[in-house]
Amino acid sequence: MEQFTFYNPTKLIFGKDTLSHLQTEIPTYGKKVLVVYGGGSIKRSGLYDKVMKELQEINAEVHELGGVEPNPRLTTAQKGIEICKAEGIDFLLAVGGGSVIDCTKLISAGSKYDGDAWNLVLRKAEVKEALPFGTVLTLAATGSEMNSGSVITNWETNEKYGWGSPLTFPKFSILDPTNTFTVPQNQTIYGIVDMMSHVFEQYFHNVTNTPLQDRLCEGTLRTVMEVAPKLVNDLENYEYRETILYSGTIALNGMLQMGYRGDWATHNIEHAVSAVYDIPHGGGLAILFPNWMKHTLDTNVARFKQLAVRVFDVNPDGKSDREVALEGIEKLRSFWNSIGAPSRLADYDIDDEKLELMADKAMARGEYGNFQKLNREDTLAIYRASL
Ligand code: NZQ
Ligand code: ZN
Repeated sequence: MEQFTFYNPTKLIFGKDTLSHLQTEIPTYGKKVLVVYGGGSIKRSGLYDKVMKELQEINAEVHELGGVEPNPRLTTAQKGIEICKAEGIDFLLAVGGGSVIDCTKLISAGSKYDGDAWNLVLRKAEVKEALPFGTVLTLAATGSEMNSGSVITNWETNEKYGWGSPLTFPKFSILDPTNTFTVPQNQTIYGIVDMMSHVFEQYFHNVTNTPLQDRLCEGTLRTVMEVAPKLVNDLENYEYRETILYSGTIALNGMLQMGYRGDWATHNIEHAVSAVYDIPHGGGLAILFPNWMKHTLDTNVARFKQLAVRVFDVNPDGKSDREVALEGIEKLRSFWNSIGAPSRLADYDIDDEKLELMADKAMARGEYGNFQKLNREDTLAIYRASL
């Protein structure tokens, strides 16, 4: 293992009928609350009314920012920042999926910063202060409810970048599995792919002696793979939703990534695709991840073999390590196909027209990936294999 420091101050409030915790959590931070939400799912599900009722109970002065897009845009966060500055907002409440939470994180830091919030995303300016915020999560996927990361798209420049600060952890997150019942089948699948991808990003490293970390990652993957096929055909099953919701949080709240850094190349490659084509993050990952795996296989075949045997139950008898590893990657592809995830860029009508542009975006911060450093040629090879 390498040296590490673990820090995660988010209070996780999990389970059915936990929304009333808003009444005890929010007053600590003040009266003026900006509620941030997406394109309307919370109004259709009735969650919006329930949240407003809780806020009325504590006599909060409520302001609203709706319409946060999937792949949230800088311009929307800027609107929120203006509201916070004009109204003297004390606390932000994100009600939605990863996009709403990520947008709220930029509003939180941008409200306490004098310049253009895009500088924070570009890491040209440091976050020195941030408004406190909490979340009511409605979609199991990103882990944003219990981490400090945020991914923002600048649609004018077709750039989508991750950023974060120790000051942008949610103060609390309320996770009630029933709030995820209405997530449609396709978004449920994207969420499952995303959380599994988060585990893969962390599993592929070249640090030695990480036996517990390996087992935690493998256990998370096996659990998700056991429940996912049942959930996609039974969307209002409480136990399946509960397991997947908890898995999504565990997959990216820092618990799995102690003692090494993880790779994160495939996220970079995918963000470049959704910056140009605005496709769902999890859909892009389903297409790209197995191709990244094949591309980097020889960096550490043993690690791929371990995954194949322990997670995908590949029988290694009489096979070379490389054969076992490849069989594991094929099993991942088959599993994602079986639950209905996309497998080719063509599934989103993406052809080779903008591969160079996407490669430019992926290379914007130079070579990337900690498991294997990827350059422009690697990036293009993975895109071509994904067409
Ligand atoms: O906008 P509304 O109307 O709420 O609809 C959303 C949206 O259309 C809908 N939805 C959410 N909860 C629902 C629901 N529909 C019905 N019932 C519910 N309960 O689902 C759609 C997708 O929502 P979104 O928030 O975009 O999905 P997700 O949570 O997958 O977030 C994706 C974003 O997070 C970023 C991605 O790049 C992408 O921009 N990521 C953030 C990370 C982080 N902060 O740690 C890490 C991830 O790797 C990821 O990159
Ligand atoms: Zn992700």
